[in-house]
Amino acid sequence: MIKKPINQNDIINSELINSYGIDYVFTNKSINRIKTKPQVVNKPELLENLKNKILNIDNCDLKNNSKQIVFSDGSYESPVMIVGEGPGQKEDEIGKPFVGDAGILLNKMLNAISLKRDKIYITNVVNYRPPENRKPEPTEIIKYSNFLREHISIIDPKLLILMGSTAMEALFGSKIKISKERGNWKEIIIKQKSYLTMITFHPAYLLRLPDQKKYSWLDLKEIRKKIDELNLNI
Ligand code: URA
Repeated sequence: MIKKPINQNDIINSELINSYGIDYVFTNKSINRIKTKPQVVNKPELLENLKNKILNIDNCDLKNNSKQIVFSDGSYESPVMIVGEGPGQKEDEIGKPFVGDAGILLNKMLNAISLKRDKIYITNVVNYRPPENRKPEPTEIIKYSNFLREHISIIDPKLLILMGSTAMEALFGSKIKISKERGNWKEIIIKQKSYLTMITFHPAYLLRLPDQKKYSWLDLKEIRKKIDELNLNI
């Protein structure tokens, strides 16, 4: 470091500091004691902007073949955010995620660990219904994952729950298998912030393969445990 004494006092201080064997830099500049104000985050406005971006997507088969956007449901102040795959027929008609059969099961799953659906924030990877309820194509997953990342960053949840392989792929890529990854807490970094994330089975998958519910139950209990450990207000 450069030793740069600038006045008599500093020279004395410099000698003192030198006698301690410490490198030190003196500066003429006053210390800036004006603290930058913490930024006020207006979540409803940021969410509205994001929704408008998704409404204005061009050349999107999903958008062109669906009735309307399905953006989100629940409380934007929730510490828990759930991400599903994409809207089905009922969601497309009503404009809310998880209102069909999978949604009914999701509500029961949440109730089983004493969570109320309206206290959670819920969205999907894709915000328009894929034709015939097909799984979103990899290119669609990648395209919408940018919106999803922004969505997560706005909600800024303490716990992020990814339901099903599409949600997992959107954030962790397609090289991993949900059967191996489910049930463990992972870290995902979005816009330089780390989010505690759990991958678990999608309710629609559990409707098709009810014997897998035993694994889902383990994951739900782990989620409840973490909520209690972190003392989350929910
Ligand atoms: N499946 C999903 O992934 N999301 C919904 O909103 C409904 C069913």
